[in-house]
Amino acid sequence: MSSLLVDDIGELVTNSADSGDPLGIRRQAAVLIEEGRVAWVGPSRYAPAADRRIDAGGAAVLPGFVDSHAHLVFAGDRAAEFAARMAGEPYTGGGIRTTVGATRAASDGALRATVGRLRTEALRQGTTTMEIKSGYGLTVADEARSLRIAAEFSADTTFLGAHVVPTEYADRPDDYVSLVCGPMLAAAAPHARWIDVFCERGAFDADHARAILACGQAAGLGVRLHANQLGPGPGVRLGVELGAASVDHCTHLADADVDALAGSATVATLLPGAEFSTRSPYPDARRLLDAGVTVALATDCNPGSSYTSSMSFCLALAVREMRMTPAEAVWAATAGGARALRRDDVGALRPGARADLMILDAPSHLHLAYRPGVPLIRQVLHNGVPQC
Ligand code: NIG
Ligand code: FE
Repeated sequence: MSSLLVDDIGELVTNSADSGDPLGIRRQAAVLIEEGRVAWVGPSRYAPAADRRIDAGGAAVLPGFVDSHAHLVFAGDRAAEFAARMAGEPYTGGGIRTTVGATRAASDGALRATVGRLRTEALRQGTTTMEIKSGYGLTVADEARSLRIAAEFSADTTFLGAHVVPTEYADRPDDYVSLVCGPMLAAAAPHARWIDVFCERGAFDADHARAILACGQAAGLGVRLHANQLGPGPGVRLGVELGAASVDHCTHLADADVDALAGSATVATLLPGAEFSTRSPYPDARRLLDAGVTVALATDCNPGSSYTSSMSFCLALAVREMRMTPAEAVWAATAGGARALRRDDVGALRPGARADLMILDAPSHLHLAYRPGVPLIRQVLHNGVPQC
């Protein structure tokens, strides 16, 4: 059994809190990796012998980012829609149908190439776990193939057949909901771990969302939800009621939404890349954190509302624009994402966890927000294997 020691770590973020520090920071530390898993964490001076050694040179080491919300299976380009928004047009979600048209017309090879390109782009930037949704196919065959392709790149695949009602069902949304709950779910479920619905005015109302999510649960899928993105609504409370792992966006919240989240195991996943790219007000992270809600950060990487794969960028936005502390933002982008995916094998560096980590070109985690836009991630290990 070959072993690898990552040694001379100036600041190690473990997210394994024995003390009051949620980041579980250790100084002058080392991590021993065996069989792709963390085998030992401790002071450098007590580090066991290993077959190979990586010298971190006193830099900071963190768990890999866990990006729990991304829409990577798509074709086409909506840069002009972004430019129009920057010139004053509002974001309505209407462009989703543009991407649906392009995605349906794309070959499997073209879709696979896009997912692969974005997954590699994210990995280089420290993202070792990435959820991937369908939702731009919206036919039985196109949702199934989207998830089949997504599953080649992630264990956390999400069926989002209820993204919007496609044009051909515009005047009979009930029929589309029946399609999603019936043949589409049957074709999608073998390739999916999760089910998601865009619960929003102009997409799916609470009754439709409840019906679809209940069918997904009956088929063995876990629940997550796009909720309260464009305006106030019932999505967050519906998610909590159904025991969703995560409700995502949470931009427009009533007190009752915050109270419901605070008393639940549902994570609030915030996606500040979407507010950045749609020039919208950011969610109130402080209100959620102060109420005791578990918060995750994710990219929402998609061609419309947030075309970034950079967790560091989202983390910097969360600190600068949403008043999260750098430590809260780092936790939310790693351990928080793991909670949002109900994973206990990622998001922390403790014995038994996957050896997913990044070595920074910086002495501490603070630099991720302090030096926005700078490529600070020197090396990424995924399952203990050094990446590109
Ligand atoms: O999470 N809100 C719904 N879905 C995506 C946007 C998709 C798009 O505009 O293509 C989101 O922001
Ligand atoms: Fe999304």
